[in-house]
Amino acid sequence: MPKILACLLLFFGLAPMAHAQSSNTDFYHATKVFRLDGGDVSYVFGVNARGELQQMYWGGRLAASDTFPTARPKPEWSSFDSSYTTTPQEYAGWGSGLYVEPALKITFADGNRDLVLHYDSHKPAQDGFDVVLKDIERAIFVTLHYQMDPESGILARSATIENRGNELVTVEQAAAAAWALPPAHYTLNYLTGRWGGEWSLTQEPIHPGARVIESRRGSTSHQANPWLAIQAGDTDENHGEVWFGALAWSGSWRIVVEQDQLDAVRITGGFNPFDFGYVLHPGESLESPVFYGGYSAHGLGGASRLLHRFELEHILPRTAKTEGRSPKLRPVIYNSWEATQFNVNEAGQIALAEKAAALGVDRFVMDDGWFGQRKNDHAGLGDWYVNLEKFPHRLKPLIDKVHSLGMDFGLWVEPEMVNPDSDLYRKHPDWVLNFPGRPRSEQRNQLVLNLARQDVRDYVFGFLDKLLTENEISFFKWDYNRNWSEPGWDQLPPNEQKRVYVAFVRNLYGILAELRQKHPNVEIESCSGGGGRVDLGILRYVDEVWPSDNTDPFDRLTQQDGFTYAYTPQIMMAWVTDSPHWLNKRSTSLGYRMLSSMQGSLGIGADITKWTPEETALAKRLIAEYHQVQATIVQGDLYRLISPRDGSEFSATQTVNADKSQSVVFVFIHSTQEGRGFPRLKLQGLDPSAQYAIAPIEGKARGDTPPQASGAWWMNHGLDMDMDFRGDFQAAAFRLDRK
Ligand code: DGJ
Repeated sequence: MPKILACLLLFFGLAPMAHAQSSNTDFYHATKVFRLDGGDVSYVFGVNARGELQQMYWGGRLAASDTFPTARPKPEWSSFDSSYTTTPQEYAGWGSGLYVEPALKITFADGNRDLVLHYDSHKPAQDGFDVVLKDIERAIFVTLHYQMDPESGILARSATIENRGNELVTVEQAAAAAWALPPAHYTLNYLTGRWGGEWSLTQEPIHPGARVIESRRGSTSHQANPWLAIQAGDTDENHGEVWFGALAWSGSWRIVVEQDQLDAVRITGGFNPFDFGYVLHPGESLESPVFYGGYSAHGLGGASRLLHRFELEHILPRTAKTEGRSPKLRPVIYNSWEATQFNVNEAGQIALAEKAAALGVDRFVMDDGWFGQRKNDHAGLGDWYVNLEKFPHRLKPLIDKVHSLGMDFGLWVEPEMVNPDSDLYRKHPDWVLNFPGRPRSEQRNQLVLNLARQDVRDYVFGFLDKLLTENEISFFKWDYNRNWSEPGWDQLPPNEQKRVYVAFVRNLYGILAELRQKHPNVEIESCSGGGGRVDLGILRYVDEVWPSDNTDPFDRLTQQDGFTYAYTPQIMMAWVTDSPHWLNKRSTSLGYRMLSSMQGSLGIGADITKWTPEETALAKRLIAEYHQVQATIVQGDLYRLISPRDGSEFSATQTVNADKSQSVVFVFIHSTQEGRGFPRLKLQGLDPSAQYAIAPIEGKARGDTPPQASGAWWMNHGLDMDMDFRGDFQAAAFRLDRK
């Protein structure tokens, strides 16, 4: 069935479908109600009597026969709280006494700052509507874009703000969308962290007032990620209502979750208004990012399963939607960073490549250190020519060797950065973000190139294009190792320089898109000193991300747990590195490290030239096992059976593929105490009437575990671990295959 038919879109109004409402409302002549249905979700909004666009319903799917009367504005609560501020508007202008977060705030050339947006017109769009709002008097038009995915019910919302007047205006604040939930007890979930400690799931009750999650850093950030989920009442991992959202923007962003004075909840997200100010000349417009919103009645687990599928189908660059196939499974990679740091050279990389190929690795990636005068992090960024001391014959001998070993070749780049100690900076000191005459703050001895400039954009595209044209490179690891400071752009008039917040990110996306178009087979990873640039914006242009520089396999369990609330394991690169680990000095077995990484897209980042024959054999066997079940692990439905959070003694995950023919289970022990064994694991998501045979990938189930049993048995009775499965940092994994 074509998708458009699967998604029920209704507009009730004076237009053709007005009659649909006539039976149950006496004022249908004025009714303008927009309804979107997809998956198990309905979203309804309408034009109220004053002409504002008002949210009316967001939740479980309603019957097609259910209808809505005209949206009624909320009453004035008191002389202090006008109806304008208590009514949940879809996109409220700051004006008319609005005290909640505005979606749009504008300063006009004459000093007027009052903006009141009313419905103007609408037209159907693919899987949704475009609804045009206009200020009650001035020529500011806002087109709200609504597109609902027919399968998941995930709604993509964004806004185009247009100045059709004769004088310039300054957009002080612009959201992609505002969402509303009725008064109830809610818990907010969001992801926080820092370098080396990304992806902590933070959970807190929503109280009166506002909780701001944001980045002011010019890029997405490690500190907070633009994703949230709001649970109703006592919703948990598997049960109850959850509303979730993800903002597709890789620049400074902000999401405000506020409980208003009447206890209703609003979620407003878009460009971060901090230091924002986008001048629109007559005839110009500003596109907001897209804010995706979804709903699940199956707890946080249900919400993340919907989001994972949506990312696989609709966000990633090579999806079933764009190319008729699911994203390609990530090759198992080898990366040189932890083994060699900056000390890369032809002989050393070839030695690593030979070992990697023997393990069954598919892609060899040379990390930092191969270019310019790059001996450490003090010099070289910006000079993207091959260092001839390290690679006297340039990259060809290494790449040829890697290919002859049956792997493809990937290369590390950090295109938006420059070291002051570089030829590029000596030639173009004006190319960096800076305020003339002011200090230029270095972080990791580097400055940020102003990618918003056309000449910088051309330079960056040019060297990347050249690298791909002159070398057989299949993959870029695109790194970004600091945040902004002194974000000046003195090529523009002073009142327009803040445009950099938008133009930089748009040029980044533009370069990625153009590279992919010109080199359709290239694959790209978004890395920012770990997980500092992971969001649904960048994910439209990259195939995978580097979640964290922290590769400690135990820390990774919690990080991966948090990561998967928002993002699919398909993009979650996970390397096996050396023990004891450089960050926590913790020692773990190779089996434990392998299984921790096998929950995502597997990579090896250890100094494998030092591995013993036993370690090499174990890794080789587990990589082969991984190749067999990888599709289920990274593209299947993920069930977080036992969370590793909050110092849990145990943790476990399970994935089930789409046709329920295969499932993979991972179990981990932190440290057993008082002789406690691993708890019985009740599996989920299997076909209850099918028979599944169990086979260990690593470790053992309890001796009396049946070799084969029904899905009902595995889900109701459950799986028991071997009695000796105890101790510190232990791991096991199993596959279940339908017979
Ligand atoms: C930060 C990345 O996250 C690391 O994996 C590595 O590529 C270094 N940069 C190289 O400088």
